[in-house]
Amino acid sequence: MCGIIGYCGPKPAAQILIDGLKRLEYRGYDSAGICIGNNGSLTVVKKKGKIRDLKAIVPKNLQGNFGIGHTRWATHGGVTDINAHPHTDVSGKIAIAHNGIIENFAVLKAKLESDGITFKSETDSEVIAHLIAQNYKGNLEQAVKESLSLLEGTYGIVCIHIDEPFKIVGARNGSPLVVGIGEKEMFLASDVTAILAHTKQVVYVEDREVVTVTCDDYTITDLKDRPINKKIDEITWELQQIEKGDFAHFMEKEIFEQPESITRAYSGRTEAEQATAKLGGLNLTTKELLNIERIKIIAAGTSFHAGLVAAYLMESIARIPCNAELASEVRYRNPLVERNTLYFAVSQSGETADTLYAMRELQRKGATVLGICNVVGSTIARESDGGVYIHSGPEIAVASTKAFTSQITAFYLFNLILSRMRHMSFESGEWYLKNMLAVPDSIKIVLDKAAQLKDMAGRYAHYKDFLFLGRGINYPVALEGALKLKEISYIHAEGYSAAEIKHGPIALINEETPSVFLVPADRLREKVISNIKEVKARKGRVIAFCNEKDEEIKSIVDDFFEVPKVPGIFNPFVMVVPLQLFAYYCAVELGRDVDQPRNLAKSVTVE
Ligand code: AGP
Ligand code: GLU
Repeated sequence: MCGIIGYCGPKPAAQILIDGLKRLEYRGYDSAGICIGNNGSLTVVKKKGKIRDLKAIVPKNLQGNFGIGHTRWATHGGVTDINAHPHTDVSGKIAIAHNGIIENFAVLKAKLESDGITFKSETDSEVIAHLIAQNYKGNLEQAVKESLSLLEGTYGIVCIHIDEPFKIVGARNGSPLVVGIGEKEMFLASDVTAILAHTKQVVYVEDREVVTVTCDDYTITDLKDRPINKKIDEITWELQQIEKGDFAHFMEKEIFEQPESITRAYSGRTEAEQATAKLGGLNLTTKELLNIERIKIIAAGTSFHAGLVAAYLMESIARIPCNAELASEVRYRNPLVERNTLYFAVSQSGETADTLYAMRELQRKGATVLGICNVVGSTIARESDGGVYIHSGPEIAVASTKAFTSQITAFYLFNLILSRMRHMSFESGEWYLKNMLAVPDSIKIVLDKAAQLKDMAGRYAHYKDFLFLGRGINYPVALEGALKLKEISYIHAEGYSAAEIKHGPIALINEETPSVFLVPADRLREKVISNIKEVKARKGRVIAFCNEKDEEIKSIVDDFFEVPKVPGIFNPFVMVVPLQLFAYYCAVELGRDVDQPRNLAKSVTVE
């Protein structure tokens, strides 16, 4: 599920692999390893812990110009040095690194053990090395293909054989793999950030394709040996975008980037003369857009929360029934695909297995699914029927921040298109656009007051439980605020509709459980004030995120943060940013590993 890199070329491979793995650290991992080929033997160095722990034990004189590297996010077998990848066959001539899960590994392992093979690790992945060895008759690519036909599950694999130096064979099924084309050097990686320092020319490998790279060439075939010609893509990301610069953490950098990332998400997509927007990649005619009777959004985690915001927005403004659902639930409930329903799969990484598989299931039933993705060339972006890139630039911190605000920006644009095609007047369209284009400035006002949120975090980070409460379009923002806090600070937090607390969660209220209320001056303000009073009456501490100069609210709560006043539907933008910062500063206050929180991975390519 985490990272893979392979290198073949004139430079010392160990350094390139370690540097590449360092770039993949953001994806979350628990151990790492490399295998270098040189002078007729393979050397494996692997270690649980961080890349710096691995680097510390790599012999300084480790020579060799081809090899593979891996960051592991353990699924089968504990986090130990032995379970770290790469894994070798019994002879030590073959080494593999694997992302994903081999679902039938137990059957394969039993068979291999009955053939006399002793396993070194507890992983599912090790079976791959032994299968390739059993199938090897002098041609690594063939042996890999024959072995793949026995595997069930998901994989991104890279494999080397000492008898075929300067060659790496890779394959994928459900876990990403990309070829990097350099000057007389070639790379394989699970993620372009691993190779961006060396090349921007890439070829995306698809499921059930096998790729063989040498130092100056690559070939891609299907499992039946048919060659596949693919286009070379150019990565548009710049190296400095995957570096922290002057910020302490990627998460901080990405929160502060939001005025620019939101601007990038709508740039070139607004049409002032028509008071509407245009989205080039939808692949839908005006007639098809007009025929839409229902919209359904599938996603996971933060992207799901963006989908919930979009559902409130589109139902209230475009007046089209819309709902968001967890992709993991959609796939297995045999979903009904209704006519004239448009689906969106929302995913920053474009690789989330739950979302990808749900999308495929819906497409299999005839649904049109549009993708809202950040990573260009990602699987969801490629397999969807059209969609919108959000152009956030690389999001490195595991906790998603700038992708959320750009995902909702994409939906705000789409909502404007649909509304203007139907009932929205030119004047209302102009009003909407004006307010949308003002969002980055409102966010700058919030960011300028980050120090207040840092102080607030200092006052609250020691609490063990939090409630996040909002209503209407701010309810999903409350869910997102709770998710941010729990994933990076490990403080327990729950998000609820403010109205819902009286149906149960109010039982949790006491002096030790602060409630974070999102209470802008919208039409539900009075109702939320009543909910605040209910909490205060039970001695609960209340932090309000309210509008500037809302003296009434400020006088009844224990703490507050003022957000700029924007029209009701634009509140998610100005509300979510201070919640991101609050979570960030709480995590810093507690000394957490902010960018790589425990147990989490950036892109979850297993179910
Ligand atoms: C966000 O902070 C998370 N770590 C996580 O919930 C994430 O949003 C989710 O896994 C979906 O990822 P995606 O957008 O790449 O599909
Ligand atoms: N399932 C494998 C293991 O537990 C690979 C995990 C990964 O994708 O990092 O070793």
